[in-house]
Order: sequence, then C-alpha cells, then structure tokens
Amino acid sequence: MSQTTSAQSAAPARFSDVKGWFWPADQLLFDWFLARQERQELHGDLLELGAYLGKSAIFMGSYLREDETFTVCDLFDSPAPDDPNSEEMDRSYATLTRRAFEANYLSFHDELPVVVQAPTSVIAGRVPAGSCRFIHVDASHLYEHVHGDIAAARALIAPDGIVAFDDFRAEHCPGVAAAVWGAVATTGLRPICITGTKLYGTWSDPDPVREELLTWLSGRSDMWHGVEEVAGSPLIRIDGKKAKAPKAPRSRHEGAAPSTPKPPSEPVPAPKPRQPLARRLAKTLLPRR
Ligand SMILES: C[S@@+](CC[C@H](N)C(=O)[O-])C[C@H]1O[C@@H](n2cnc3c(N)ncnc32)[C@H](O)[C@@H]1O
Repeated sequence: MSQTTSAQSAAPARFSDVKGWFWPADQLLFDWFLARQERQELHGDLLELGAYLGKSAIFMGSYLREDETFTVCDLFDSPAPDDPNSEEMDRSYATLTRRAFEANYLSFHDELPVVVQAPTSVIAGRVPAGSCRFIHVDASHLYEHVHGDIAAARALIAPDGIVAFDDFRAEHCPGVAAAVWGAVATTGLRPICITGTKLYGTWSDPDPVREELLTWLSGRSDMWHGVEEVAGSPLIRIDGKKAKAPKAPRSRHEGAAPSTPKPPSEPVPAPKPRQPLARRLAKTLLPRR
C-alpha cells in the first residue's frame, strides 16, 4: 500500500478503474479459494477488515450466496482510535470516504454489504463466532491492530474457512509480518500459500486444500510456484508477477459516458522564439565565465 492515492470521482466503468491494492495473482487466488468453497457447498459468511474504495470487497461480493452475509469493516472517514493509526490514515487514505466506497460497490452489485464503520476492534462483537468461510484482513498494518484482527479472525472463522492477510512481508509494515508469523507460532494458524503480497492460511487442516491448490498451479503457465518447508509444514510460494487476472466483476456503467466531465486540458505554452544561429553556436562553443 505504498502508492499515493487521490480521490476517485467518476463512477467506475470497469473493475480496473477502482483504486486499491488487489493484484491479479491475488484475484486469481481469491477466485480459486471462493470457487472451491462453492464446489464443496461450504456455506458461511464473508468478512473484510479494511475495504478502502472497495476493490477487493467488490471482487469478494461476487461470490456471496443468498443465505450468506458479507460484512466489511473500515474506519472510512471516521477518526482512528490512536495516534499511530491516525498517522497511518493521514499518510495513506486521506481522501477516503464511505460514500465513495458505497458508490463504487453499487456500480457492481445491487446491494451493499453490511458496513461496520468503526475500528476493527469492534468486529468480534458484530459478527457471529465461527460464521465466516472467508476473511480478508487488510485494515491497519500496525502490529497491535493486526494482532487484534488475527484474534478476531480466529474467533469468527468457520471450520475449513480461509483467511487472507495482506502485506504480510513488506518493508513498510513489519508489524503485519510479526503478527502473522507470531500467530503461526502461537495460535495454530496454518499457512497454505504466499504471493508477493498476501499470506493465505487456515485454522483447520491445510493438507486437502494445499494438495488441490498444487494441482491447479501445476496447470498454470502464468504463475511460478515452489514448495518450501516452513515451521514444520510445506508452504506454497507463488510468483504471480505475470499472472493473468480472472474475469473481473462487471460495472453497470460499462460503456457509459464518464459521469464527470474531464477538466479542460492545460493551455499549450507558446514556443519560445528561437535565437539566431550565430548566438546559439556561440553559447555552445564559447567557454562559460
Ligand atoms: C490497504 S486499505 C484496504 C485496501 C482494500 N482491501 C483493497 O484491496 O483495495 C486499508 C483500509 O483499512 C482501513 N483502516 C485502517 N485502520 C483501521 C482500523 N483501525 N479499523 C478499521 N479500518 C481501518 C483504512 O481506512 C483503509 O481503507
């Protein structure tokens, strides 16, 4: 999340117009995990901690079934609960508003998810324990907050549920790495695979899902993968830099004229009058004083 952000004003005509940090390799993995749950008829709710302008939420919302609830929790334009979190918000998400999230989401889906506009520390009290089949943890990237988010995810995850942690290894957010690997060491979180940006794990048996994932990966030429023993279990490493994104959710504004007019283009400055050739040559050839 080191890119600078500015307000996104026009209604998104395509999924690629929605600003966020959700790259093709992770879109493919979300699709793979969520479609597998559908094939297995595993029902349960979806939860996202940290939605920003809705990029990953819009994607997840496409897998929601009638009997399920999708909850997103984000501060949006509310004050952060402490100073470090407040600095993080000012630095990375200063232009974020809940209205912008909602407008984006409704460009792709008929109904909003349940929106909890609050610090993620409230989430364990708002979502039933053991109800979620898929949780995306992508809110504050500070250790104390992520530590709390992991505890909440553990309480809310359903049997065989999958949890995805964003930015688990980046230089700008060591707290996420410490909290996630700490949970592997102390809470029984079992990592399944990693991409450049996310770690996917479960608190259930990781072997069946890992085996199926390996079979799927071996048929893909756009993503390299390897397996390495980490903390006593095989971990699938995925290099998805060349990954081809799956079919994106469709915006209802696709093909429509942009809803905000483009600003008038900058006036082109008049060309400077050229100096006579002798003056130009003299400038280039004579030594400077
Ligand atoms: C990296 S962004 C989420 C990106 C989004 N999932 C995507 O893929 O585009 C992190 C979000 O977490 C929110 N956030 C930061 N600290 C939070 C906290 N303590 N509680 C709830 N949300 C928080 C920010 O408002 C921001 O929208």
